[in-house]
Parts: sequence; structure tokens; C-alpha cells
Amino acid sequence: MPTADHRDKARRARSFGAAAQEYERGRPTYPPESVSWLVPEEARTVVDIGAGTGKLTRTLLSPGREVIAVEPSAEMRDQFARVLPEVRMLAATAEFIPLPDASADVVVCAQAWHWVSPELAIPEAARVLRPGGRLSLVWNTRDVSEPWVAELDRILLERESARADARIPHVQPPFGLLEHRDFRWAHPTSPEEIVSMVASRSCVITMAPMARQELLDSVWTLVAAEGPTEMPYVTECYRAAVAPA
Ligand SMILES: C[S@@+](CC[C@H](N)C(=O)[O-])C[C@H]1O[C@@H](n2cnc3c(N)ncnc32)[C@H](O)[C@@H]1O
Repeated sequence: MPTADHRDKARRARSFGAAAQEYERGRPTYPPESVSWLVPEEARTVVDIGAGTGKLTRTLLSPGREVIAVEPSAEMRDQFARVLPEVRMLAATAEFIPLPDASADVVVCAQAWHWVSPELAIPEAARVLRPGGRLSLVWNTRDVSEPWVAELDRILLERESARADARIPHVQPPFGLLEHRDFRWAHPTSPEEIVSMVASRSCVITMAPMARQELLDSVWTLVAAEGPTEMPYVTECYRAAVAPA
């Protein structure tokens, strides 16, 4: 029997489509050093799970490489198709990937692994990967060492309190050692884009309309006064290889 927490998580995992345009406008990309660490240059087939509007996908494109996106939300897939019409997109989830066994070099998941059921998604990623292939997971987190970013987090934090715990991934055999590395960088942005970034968060999308508007007004008051031109991020990266056959 699903608990109220499970039902809330499932509702939030399905919520992104309602804010697909704001997602595309406000969310950051991923710095090139992090992408190189997550996906080796020689990877020929890369599967991007929970690809959303393609924020990570566009950084994966490279001559001679096939990138395949997997995304359950129809609205996110529509937004993705506007930006990356040439990329193959599958309407599916991390738990059931409609690809053959041993067909990918890397399965990567950006800002989405906390929405999946790892007990199904880990064996599914292992099935799709070739022996020696890699599962790579990444999250952009705001760098709260900047005082105004700490204040933004204070406004958002009670809605995101489950975030940190959910993000420490646990991978198990057939995957080997989980490696971790952080990358600090700044994403060029504007006060308007920061409001879009906040509006595209599942905890905000699923709020009651009046409370949501009040929250967005508080964020606007903060960022309009501050006038930031960039958002500092720490990009948290994890990778683990599936044992060679
Ligand atoms: C925060 S967005 C991340 C989008 C994109 N990867 C990025 O880096 O911006 C999370 C995405 O995960 C998708 N998602 C939710 N549950 C999923 C699941 N079980 N399997 C795969 N994707 C899922 C959502 O529809 C949403 O597009």
C-alpha cells in the first residue's frame, strides 16, 4: 500500500510538464568538465534518462555518437523536440527502457535519479549497458556560500527538505565502486530566469495557486533587489561501471 509520502513523490515526479517552458527558460545546463567526467569521449551510444527539455542532452551531442533520450512527460518531450528535433526520443521511464540488452556505453541521468525507483532502475540500466559500460548521475545544486543564494534557499528550503537525502545515490552490483566529484561554476542568468527556475521546481509546481504566487513574489522581491547576472552552482557527479563480462 503506497504511503502519503510515496503518493506525493509520484505526483511531484509527474508534475514537470506543467512548467516545461519555464523549465527550459530558467534551468541551468551542465559545465563541460562535469560532462567529460560523466561521459567518456569514446562513448558511442549514450542514453539520457529523464531527459526533460534536453538541458544535459544538448551537451552530449558529438560527431559519431548516438544520443537517445528517455522521458515520460509528453509536455517535456514536446519542449525537447523544439530544441533538439534531431535527437531520438523514447516515451518511457528509467524503470522500463525500451532498448535492447547491452546496447549502450553510458546511461546518464541528470537531476532525475531521485524520482526513479532504484530497485528497478539499477538492474534496468545494467541490462541496457554493455559490459564495462557506465551509469552516471548528476545534480546541479545552488551554491549557498553567496548570501543572496542562501536567502533564496531559505525561502525554498522547507519545500525541499527531502532533497539532500534523496540525492545520495546507492548503486549495487552489478555496478562497482561509485565515484563522486563536484564541479563549481556559475550559470549566466537574470532575475526573470531565476523566477522561472523556481517556478519549474516540482515542489513549487504542485503548490496551491495562491501560495505559489506568494512564493514567486518573495523570490522576485529578493532577486529584483539583488540583480544577479549569474547563479553559482555546485554540480554533483557520480559514476559507476558495470562489471565487465
Ligand atoms: C528535474 S527534471 C530533469 C530534466 C533534465 N534531465 C535536466 O537535467 O534538466 C526531472 C525529469 O525526470 C522525469 N522523470 C520523472 N520520473 C521519471 C522516471 N521514473 N524515469 C525517468 N524520468 C522520470 C520528469 O518527467 C522530468 O522531466
